[in-house]
Amino acid sequence: MPWNDRTGAFSPFKASFLAALCLPALWLAWLWLSDGLGPRRLDAAIHVSGNWAVRVLVLSLLVSPARQLLRQARLMLVRRMVGVAALLYTLLHLLLYVADQKFSLGAVFSEIVKRFYLTIGLVALLGLVALGVTSFDQMIRRMGGPAWRRLHKATYGIAVLALLHFMLQTKADVTEATLTAGLFLWLMGYRLLSPKGGAPGRWALLALAPAAGLATAVLEFAWYGLATGINPWRVAAANLDVAFGLRPSPWVAVVGLALWLLREALALRRARWPATA
Ligand code: HEM
Repeated sequence: MPWNDRTGAFSPFKASFLAALCLPALWLAWLWLSDGLGPRRLDAAIHVSGNWAVRVLVLSLLVSPARQLLRQARLMLVRRMVGVAALLYTLLHLLLYVADQKFSLGAVFSEIVKRFYLTIGLVALLGLVALGVTSFDQMIRRMGGPAWRRLHKATYGIAVLALLHFMLQTKADVTEATLTAGLFLWLMGYRLLSPKGGAPGRWALLALAPAAGLATAVLEFAWYGLATGINPWRVAAANLDVAFGLRPSPWVAVVGLALWLLREALALRRARWPATA
């Protein structure tokens, strides 16, 4: 059971994570039942489930860095649960899409073949399914830890495809897609800076915050320049204007900086009060 630990005993830690992962689905069900999704509720539900699928997928990539930064080894107990939740939200997303096509599998198939962003979505979904079916204890044992870990590195490629699907289906305003992609860039940067599996050094982690922010701005600039008719220079200039709130690129830098500060604060606490830490 997902709420039990490896000994089979009930784990409040895992149970609370499971409850948190169910919240978006419950919220969506509530919106559905209370007519909170507007006149095109199936369409709105496709968007909400897609958004959560990609958020939870990116969250699954945060588990290992969070374990290292917070020194919370038990976070690894929930990594698989978060990955499986990403798969389930994606399956719900697909199911809603099939319902939107009036359960005509022929129509679904021809739409997926015709529309590039849907083809990409399908490839990402198949990748997630492959990771999901190899995530049972028995399968992990049969494959062996190293082979299983190698296969699960495919999550990075799957996340790239999911983000591309997200950006391609968005019409003009790619703010949320860019923010999610920027956080993904930070997570990939973190892994590049720690090839042996440990946490990056103190200054490398600090430098990663503005670097990921800058990479996000470049990605956004390239997207507006290449894929839309919108002037990318005006979008880039908007990053310096906080009158309407922070844009994705500074947000990514702020999140990176906050994580660095958190690690520094925890290190300071450990140095000052080793017993409490
Ligand atoms: C066979 C697979 C998939 C199909 C058929 C599909 C279908 C769709 C459709 C029809 C839309 C709305 C497009 C529009 O209104 O113009 C959408 C949006 C979206 N999808 Fe998918 N999708 C698939 C896979 C995925 C996967 C694997 C993910 C992420 C893990 C994902 C995440 C999203 C996101 C984030 C959005 C945008 C939501 C928003 O803008 O509010 N989709 N998808």
